[in-house]
Amino acid sequence: MKKNDYKLPNLKDAQKRTKQQVKIEKELFEVPVEVKNLGVDRKFYLRTYGCQANERDGETIAGILEQLHFTQVDTPEEADFILLNTCAVRKNAEDKVLGELGSLKRLKQTNPDLIMGMCGCMAQGEEIVDIILKKYPHVDLVFGTHNIHRLPKLLYQAMMNKERTIEVFSQEGEVIENLPVKRFGTHKAWVNIMYGCDKFCTYCIVPYTRGKERSRTMEDVLAEIQTLIDEGFKEVTLLGQNVNSYGKDLGIDGGFARLLEEVAKTGIQRIRFTTSHPWDFSDAMIDVIAAYDNIMPFIHLPVQSGDSDMLKIMGRRYTIEEYRTLFDKLASKIKNVAFSTDIIVGFPNETEEQFQRTLDIVEYCQFDNAFTFIYSPREGTPAAKMQDNVPMEVKQDRLNRLMERTNHYARLKNEAWKGKTCKVLVDGPSKKNKDVYSGYTEQQKLVNFTTDQKIKAGDIVDVEITDAKTWSLNGKQV
Ligand code: 5AD
Ligand code: SF4
Repeated sequence: MKKNDYKLPNLKDAQKRTKQQVKIEKELFEVPVEVKNLGVDRKFYLRTYGCQANERDGETIAGILEQLHFTQVDTPEEADFILLNTCAVRKNAEDKVLGELGSLKRLKQTNPDLIMGMCGCMAQGEEIVDIILKKYPHVDLVFGTHNIHRLPKLLYQAMMNKERTIEVFSQEGEVIENLPVKRFGTHKAWVNIMYGCDKFCTYCIVPYTRGKERSRTMEDVLAEIQTLIDEGFKEVTLLGQNVNSYGKDLGIDGGFARLLEEVAKTGIQRIRFTTSHPWDFSDAMIDVIAAYDNIMPFIHLPVQSGDSDMLKIMGRRYTIEEYRTLFDKLASKIKNVAFSTDIIVGFPNETEEQFQRTLDIVEYCQFDNAFTFIYSPREGTPAAKMQDNVPMEVKQDRLNRLMERTNHYARLKNEAWKGKTCKVLVDGPSKKNKDVYSGYTEQQKLVNFTTDQKIKAGDIVDVEITDAKTWSLNGKQV
């Protein structure tokens, strides 16, 4: 491919939002004849980083590659095509990928026909793709999050025509149904209900890497779930960067509450959803969650900061009082509900008092689980342009102090389950010890347990909790 044929990412284009409704493409996925057998006698290695949306994309990519007759392998050494499906949410995620790409270079020496590829959110970044172009000449293929359906053509070009291939669309196209999928789980599945994000929190790169909010239709989501039920799946997790916004672009009023209720009525045993933004979490949603036993009592509710001024600068659209009110409402209406959250420390100019308010909200909510991060500037976002007066040591110290508290409450919340019996969806025997099984409770707690019965992955069993640790519970089946 000649250099000027590259389709490179552009963050300004990625930021644009059009009012136009997105077309939903329902044609069957077909590949050109010459590409159909590209994978015969060839193997691929796929490694996915980051969030569940990426994991689900990985399943589509694997589905497409298997349709081309590629075989998936577990180590890069065996592969003819290596693909890293990447995350751009923080710099350390990007550094990991660049390190991995560097270390995989050696495999090109033993296998010059090896095709090395990178896709996912990092591919949407101007700066990163520029680095790849200049410093990673062994990377043959780069494609973006809006280009996955074009993989057969792009891979053919890189593999058969030996052309370095870079194709990153900075604006979303249609919502494409009917792409192949290879589910990596046997009883738990991810289901996209929408793509993209329009929130533009000032620190976040996701609205740029994943485009504007586009919902799938309710009938497509429900049809996918029915297929999963027929295939024996027990749990679905409905995915969206902010599921509360589901249906707004399609003009469906109260979209997520309605969808959730319809999914509950399918009778699938367990329903989860992520992520919910605290800003538009409606009462109707709470009522539906409370009303159906198959909607799991577990809510991931990112708070980000405990200080209202900081939340405003972050573009979060709620005050900490509003967060607390929502939290209380959820806790009082949903029986035995558990919460997890995301928290950022060291946002530009965060004061010690502001950080103290973050500790206060942790004391107040006592989260079952918290994902805590040091703020990482992302090129193209408004926060990346802010001057910052907080030294890195201070940020690190705040993270340590925060984690001490969040870990304390994670343990405390687990301790409360000692002596109680809970329902566990079995994942299978534990990797370390075949006599011990593991699975998750309704509150999304990992349980390792012993049993004298014959059980298998996908069963839901009653387990009495005998011991609690910070990140897991121990128990025995009753
Ligand atoms: N720096 C640090 N953390 C971030 N997150 C998103 N963007 C950044 C950033 N630039 C965190 C938020 C979000 C989670 C998925 O990642 O807490 O909820
Ligand atoms: Fe990022 Fe905010 Fe959208 Fe979440 S809601 S993906 S933090 S912009």
